[in-house]
Amino acid sequence: LLSRALTGNLVIPDFTAFCAEITRMFDAVRDCRDGEVAAYIPQLARADADGFAVAVRTIDGQRFAIGDTATRYCVQSTCKPINYAIALDRLGVDAVHRHVGREPSGHSFNAITLNAAGLPHNPMINAGAIMCASLIAPEQSAADRFDTVMQTWGALAGEGAVGFDNAVFLSERDTADRNFALAYFMRENGAFPDGTDLKATLDLYFQCCSITVDAPGMATIAATFANGGVCPLSNDRVFTSDTTKNCLSLMASCGLYDFSGEFAFTVGLPAKSGVSGALFITIPGVCGIAVWSPRLDALGNSVRGVEFARRLAGRFAFDGL
Ligand code: DON
Repeated sequence: LLSRALTGNLVIPDFTAFCAEITRMFDAVRDCRDGEVAAYIPQLARADADGFAVAVRTIDGQRFAIGDTATRYCVQSTCKPINYAIALDRLGVDAVHRHVGREPSGHSFNAITLNAAGLPHNPMINAGAIMCASLIAPEQSAADRFDTVMQTWGALAGEGAVGFDNAVFLSERDTADRNFALAYFMRENGAFPDGTDLKATLDLYFQCCSITVDAPGMATIAATFANGGVCPLSNDRVFTSDTTKNCLSLMASCGLYDFSGEFAFTVGLPAKSGVSGALFITIPGVCGIAVWSPRLDALGNSVRGVEFARRLAGRFAFDGL
C-alpha cells in the first residue's frame, strides 16, 4: 500500500473524496425505513431493523467504514458464493456442475424447482447452495467440514472479523421444512453425488448461513473476490483466479435471487444478498463493498442495500477513478 501510495499508483487515488461520496450516499439512504426484517426464522426477526453499516476495502488495502461497523450479523445467503468457490477449488468446474446448473432460475430463492437436467438451477439459490454444501469435503467429519469452511472465511476476511451464531443455527434448523423439502426433492431426482448424507449436508448449510461477520470483514471478502482471489489484507491466495471468475459470473447473473436481472441491468456489478440484510458488492480490479441493513423488500434483498448499490453505480463509472 505504501509503495503504491508513494508512486501514485493507488487503485482509488483520491480515496478521501471517494469516502466523502460514500458517506453522502450512506446519509441519503439511511432515511429510508421501507421493508421488513425477515421473520420466517425467529432469531432473524430479532435483528435491529434500523441497523446500518457500509464498509469499503480496496484491492490495495485502503479501507473505510461507516455506521454500525462493529456489529456482527449473520451472513445467510452471502455464504453461497463462498461455498460454491470452496467446492470449485476442491473439485473443479466439471465435477461441481455435474450437480448444479449455472443459469438464473427466474424463481424465488427457496422455490421447489429444478432445471431440465433435474439439477438445482444455480449455486446462489437454496437448492444449489445445499448441493454445494454436499460437495464440500463429504469424506470428512462434520467438525472438519465446518472447520474447512471457517478457515476459508478467516482467510477471506481476516480472522477477527468472523464468528458463529449458534442460536441462529438452531433456529434455522428448527424452521427448515422448505430446505428439507428441497433436499429430498433433489435426492428423488438423483441430483446428489452417491452416498450423500442429507442430514449432514443440511446441517453444514445451516451452519454456513449462521456464520457472522462485521461489515469491514465482509468488505475484505468482497475485495478478495475483486482481487482475483488474493486477500488484500494478507496477500494470501484463497481461491484460484478461475474459481473467482466463475463465482463472480454467477453472482452477476444470479446473486440477487429474482431481482438478479434487474440488478444486473441497473447496477451491473457482481453482488450477493442474504435475508439478514447482508449485501456484498464486488468491483473487479478496484474494491469490495459491504452493506448491512436488515429491512428487506418482497424478494428478500436489503432495501437500503439495493438503493445504495443503485446510487453507487449512478455516481461512479469505475473506469476513471
Ligand atoms: O432459509 C434459508 O435457507 C436461509 N437461512 C438462507 C437464506 C437467504 O439468505 C436467502 N435469502 N434471501
